Amino acid sequence: MQRIILDTDPGIDDALAFLLLAASPEISLEAITVTHGNTSVDKCTENALKLVELAGISHVPVARGADQPLVKALSVAEETHGDGGLGYAVLPASKVQIVEPKAVDLIIELIHKYPKEITLLCIGPMTNIALAILKDPSIVPLVKNVVSMGGTFHFPGNSTPDSEYNVFCDPEAFDIVVRAGFDLTIVPLDVTYQCIFTKEHLTRLKEVKPSIREFIEDSTRFYMEFHDEYQAIDGCAINDPLAAAILVKPELVSLRDYYVTVELKGEHTRAKTSADHFKTLNKQPNAKVAMEVDVPGFMDFFIERMKSL
Ligand code: RIB
Ligand code: CA
Repeated sequence: MQRIILDTDPGIDDALAFLLLAASPEISLEAITVTHGNTSVDKCTENALKLVELAGISHVPVARGADQPLVKALSVAEETHGDGGLGYAVLPASKVQIVEPKAVDLIIELIHKYPKEITLLCIGPMTNIALAILKDPSIVPLVKNVVSMGGTFHFPGNSTPDSEYNVFCDPEAFDIVVRAGFDLTIVPLDVTYQCIFTKEHLTRLKEVKPSIREFIEDSTRFYMEFHDEYQAIDGCAINDPLAAAILVKPELVSLRDYYVTVELKGEHTRAKTSADHFKTLNKQPNAKVAMEVDVPGFMDFFIERMKSL
């Protein structure tokens, strides 16, 4: 059983990751910590409380986290995820309340409670994780590993020509995490933008529970419209569920050991992530980066797990 803390900015693809984690008996979801990102932390927190009910995981503690990045101004992506953050999907008000500890304190508490057992699955800006490291640096060697949906290396940026949204939202936070010394796996746009969920995939959800199927249909319809209008993509890149999926099926991706950096100063390249492929800097690798993915294997896995909810 893997003990996971999910750090998230729900968000349409975050929501699909919630569903996949809920459908994975291999995972013990110890907490959901919420950050600013796709929309405000208030809306992301409200969405997380609704999603744990939809996914049948209301027992998982949800903690409110950072409302803004460490340094840069707040960004939101409501053109991508809708004003409410879940596209056209409308979920009933949740009966679940957030827990008392703030996200950073809950992360620190659980890492000390379960030394070397916790996986931090990060599918939003890394502000909460960076704040936890700054507040209690002793957590770093106690974390089993970090899996981060973030960055892009040889694929175009989705936020600036060179940057991926989670890193773009808080590049300083990503820099702290990538330098911390974690066992770090990065799942960048290079692989997530091969995982395009389409209307054909929707037709394969007939056996899925209506409430789940309708949520997936209504949330991804908005997401597909964004991808079509802004990126000329027929379907939508389901970034976050891929990061969740590799916790259960690591064989879905091929990893390469890279020394990864993030640009913090560039006038045109701030938040650009780089991987030193030819080891030009003579630095020890600080991350395992997913650079190939079994797309049909992932899509089949995702759809089959949705049927089990
Ligand atoms: O760039 C994609 C990432 O940014 C995903 O996690 C999406 O939810 C947004 O947070
Ligand atoms: Ca996200």
